[in-house]
Amino acid sequence: MNPQIIDNFGRKHTYLRISLTDRCNLRCFYCMPEEGVELTDKQHIMTLEEIVGISERFVSLGVDTIRLTGGEPLIRKNVETLIRELARLGVTLKLTTNGIVLDKFFDVLKEAGLRKINISLDTLEKSKSVFITKRDYFYRILDNIQKAIEHGFDIKLNIVLIKGVNDMEINDFIGLTRKQNIGIKFIEFMPFNGNNWDWKKGVSKEEILKAATFGYGGYKKLEDLKRSTSVNYQVKGFKGSFGIVSTITNPFCAGCNRIRLTADGKMKNCLFAASETDLLTPYRKGDSIDEIILNSIKTKKFSRDGMDTEMEKSHYEKNRSMIKIGG
Ligand code: 5AD
Ligand code: SF4
Repeated sequence: MNPQIIDNFGRKHTYLRISLTDRCNLRCFYCMPEEGVELTDKQHIMTLEEIVGISERFVSLGVDTIRLTGGEPLIRKNVETLIRELARLGVTLKLTTNGIVLDKFFDVLKEAGLRKINISLDTLEKSKSVFITKRDYFYRILDNIQKAIEHGFDIKLNIVLIKGVNDMEINDFIGLTRKQNIGIKFIEFMPFNGNNWDWKKGVSKEEILKAATFGYGGYKKLEDLKRSTSVNYQVKGFKGSFGIVSTITNPFCAGCNRIRLTADGKMKNCLFAASETDLLTPYRKGDSIDEIILNSIKTKKFSRDGMDTEMEKSHYEKNRSMIKIGG
């Protein structure tokens, strides 16, 4: 059997998140720096063949789940072909998208057996959506979420909570789970290069649960899937559930099994790691990248790239912006 991707803390890495592009048709302020980002030259971006080839190496080293992210992954040219090719690797495929063009891909996603889709939806109000995303696609996204549910996909909505912007909508979001079996994922606001992060703007897990208690009188704790990054709850009698990703107030690094691959072919062992390992250059030269992957994982720190207790500006400013990492 091939070696596995195991770090110095004994964590086996079986989950690869691949960013297909650093371009996006939205401009969410918590993700994309205000001044925009310099787009990576096309020649430095992995081709679809290279994505498949590099993924194959990861799969041979034990990866069994691949999530496609961006930017917006579905605006990548010929993404259908890629989805079909990746499906052949026998992994569980997942997708994170902003939903704008999702309806065009229902057939190919079904064909590839991809059922789990996370869709970013930070507000249930159109004008606020325009404020957050700087674009006007709100109704199109809502329609596509509804259509995706009707097509039987397993849908989770990603909500990055920001104080004074959408924290008053916590209970409206939970309300969506009353009649529909969907998941709501509240995500604590995280710092990346250029997003003017300040935890004063963040909403903690504790505050979210307080709002839910106030709104619904209570909820029950669900059993979380192994390695889940969210802690999950359900309001009594509701069909769906809600979860909280508390990267800031309760990091869940102990069970981390994730690796990221940026659109320009760099392996990132942690969302907060400024250090990256170039896989694309050696891959293009025809070198084996297996050893490089196995060595790189040994440099992974235990928690948040060493920011064990607090988020340090000098540290996270060195990292990429989220749009260049991949959700
Ligand atoms: N904090 C938390 N989550 C973020 N995302 C992007 N930027 C941030 C941030 N600053 C996540 C959102 C979005 C996905 C693409 O990336 O969940 O849905
Ligand atoms: Fe695009 Fe998602 Fe970033 Fe918004 S959060 S700009 S939809 S990649």
